[in-house]
Amino acid sequence: MEEKRKVIFSGIKPSGDLTLGNYIGAIKNWVKLQDEYDCYFCVVDLHAITVRQEPKDLRQRTLEILSIYIASGIDPDKNTLFIQSHVPVHSEAAWLLNCYTYMGELSRMTQYKDKSQKLGDSISAGLFNYPVLMAADILIYNADLVPVGKDQKQHLEIARDIAERFNNIYSPTFVIPDAYIPTEGAKIMDLQDASKKMSKSEENPNGYILIMDPPEVIRKKVSRAVTDSLGIVKYSDEQPGVKNLINILSVLTKASPEEIEKNYEGKGYAQFKSDVAEAIIKELEPIQTKVKELMANKSYLEEIYKKGAEKANYVSMKTLRKMQKKIGLIPISK
Ligand code: AMP
Ligand code: TRP
Repeated sequence: MEEKRKVIFSGIKPSGDLTLGNYIGAIKNWVKLQDEYDCYFCVVDLHAITVRQEPKDLRQRTLEILSIYIASGIDPDKNTLFIQSHVPVHSEAAWLLNCYTYMGELSRMTQYKDKSQKLGDSISAGLFNYPVLMAADILIYNADLVPVGKDQKQHLEIARDIAERFNNIYSPTFVIPDAYIPTEGAKIMDLQDASKKMSKSEENPNGYILIMDPPEVIRKKVSRAVTDSLGIVKYSDEQPGVKNLINILSVLTKASPEEIEKNYEGKGYAQFKSDVAEAIIKELEPIQTKVKELMANKSYLEEIYKKGAEKANYVSMKTLRKMQKKIGLIPISK
């Protein structure tokens, strides 16, 4: 009998255009995992609506992210690619899990704390409960591994806590998922302020590179990236801007930071930045072309997300039934 492959679940929310951070920290790693694992890659649209979205943009971005997954090399025949809201089990399981989650643990989430500081009392309850929906996403597929960037580590820990709590109250129901955080590129930083992660919600567009940014924009943004006055390409915490660019170049060219330091000995920042920009363009240009082709072929995309939703629905429904039964909800026979 064929050995059961381990399950992977991950997702990106369509709350803004995807950045190089999403690509290096998430998607690029997923591509490497698809042969070894049974993968579910989701566009988590229900997570995006925790902050207000323009309906038209949300639709467009949801399909664009699906296209980016495929264009980056995630094979829709080998993996389950789908849109979260097409599988109602996510919302239903999230409700059930809400009842096994404490206000206290949710209020300790740094992402929530940051956002509530900005939004005050008008923060949505959805943003508070966000980690529970994320836990549901992962647990209903019994995922063993969840590849995410470093910023999601805390959310994964709460998913494990919720799973363990449920398993302890009833009996083993969920697999306890492990985070799978890449060693390189786990956190790509803002080009204007290397103390913050590169993020699509950042106001200053010079701080991030979008996966769909045209080459001339990429060149401009990299050339304006904040560095320092030392003028030495060195992988050091004292030079966070340069360190971030070395990280990007290292992931894209597979050269180690030490090799990069050597290559630029005595050369200053201009040549270095120009090479970083060209490496990014080389990586992203073919993806951009493919995304544009896919976005022009909506019926093909529909075929993929329908097939994905069917499989996801089937698998997650089995877990939901188990949860309902253990909790004491009365089953209805089909
Ligand atoms: P989000 O854009 O918040 O939905 O994040 C989607 C995925 O991209 C998650 O796995 C994040 O950890 C990852 N990610 C987002 N921004 C970065 C970044 N600047 N560096 C590395 N990974 C990132
Ligand atoms: N919360 C994640 C983020 O902001 C996105 C996400 C939602 C996710 N559900 C998930 C990631 C499940 C991994 C697994 O990046």
